[in-house]
Amino acid sequence: MLKHKDLLGLRELSAEEITSILDRALELRPRIDDARLRSDELSRRAMAELFYENSTRTKTSFGLAGKYLGMYVTDLGVDTSSVQKGESLVDTGLTLDEMGIDFMVIRHSMTGSAALLAKTVNAHVINAGDGANEHPTQALLDMLTIRDAYGSFEGLKVTIIGDISHSRVARSNVFGLTKLGAKVTLAGPSTLLGGMSVLGAASTYDIKSALRDADVVMGLRIQFERQKTVTFPSIGEYREFFRVDDELMKLASPNALILHPGPVNRGNELTGEIIDSERSLINRQVKNGLAVRMAILTLLAEGENAK
Ligand code: CP
Repeated sequence: MLKHKDLLGLRELSAEEITSILDRALELRPRIDDARLRSDELSRRAMAELFYENSTRTKTSFGLAGKYLGMYVTDLGVDTSSVQKGESLVDTGLTLDEMGIDFMVIRHSMTGSAALLAKTVNAHVINAGDGANEHPTQALLDMLTIRDAYGSFEGLKVTIIGDISHSRVARSNVFGLTKLGAKVTLAGPSTLLGGMSVLGAASTYDIKSALRDADVVMGLRIQFERQKTVTFPSIGEYREFFRVDDELMKLASPNALILHPGPVNRGNELTGEIIDSERSLINRQVKNGLAVRMAILTLLAEGENAK
């Protein structure tokens, strides 16, 4: 069980709690491919999805995770909701609370939006990405994918490359991976590195040193939608210096894995050859995302029953 009402980020979770989520995800993962294993253990519980930003993977997999556990799942449909008439996040949350919603899954461009909703409502709140702050279930699925391959995190070198400063994925991964003993190196143009090194990761614009002996290489999308200023001259220039290709991967460990949270802009952060290569686990990450989201729903519900 998780002794938290909400899942807001990996910053607040202990190494033991993170491990328990990964263990539960491993138990539940067979349900994805074998419909006979799906159950109704969370039947009569209700989940609402509040996605104020676009999503394919996170929104769909949370919806399916709820359904594979027997839940009622409803999508607020922000674009057609009263949000468009000016209703605030707090008032929207209070409205859903009155309808008996047990879990609210929120994605929002504002840092702290999930925490604000969590303070407001009785329902469990799960952060599906708040601005450039945290995307905890993404980091958990990344960690499950890494643990599947290596068995543990102790001493692994994980290199994350791209738009670090706008990346909630990078932040959550730094919190989670360093707690479990991995060494994280963040790499990208100096204008996109931000102040992440204070979180316990190394940080460099020298992509070659970042890739040297890396066990895991994670590409990140350039988040043009969050950039307020020009951070590099052109995407062509970014590709020339920071796109990961076969040649650069020769610097990494011979069996180094490739991860990417998606959506991938093919040819920008990683070449198509790298994305489609055998060492790429990008599709495996998607499956692990569904497993991790089932795990979170069950563990939060168990914590509530234990009170
Ligand atoms: N990785 C991720 O969050 O993908 P979506 O934006 O498609 O949910």
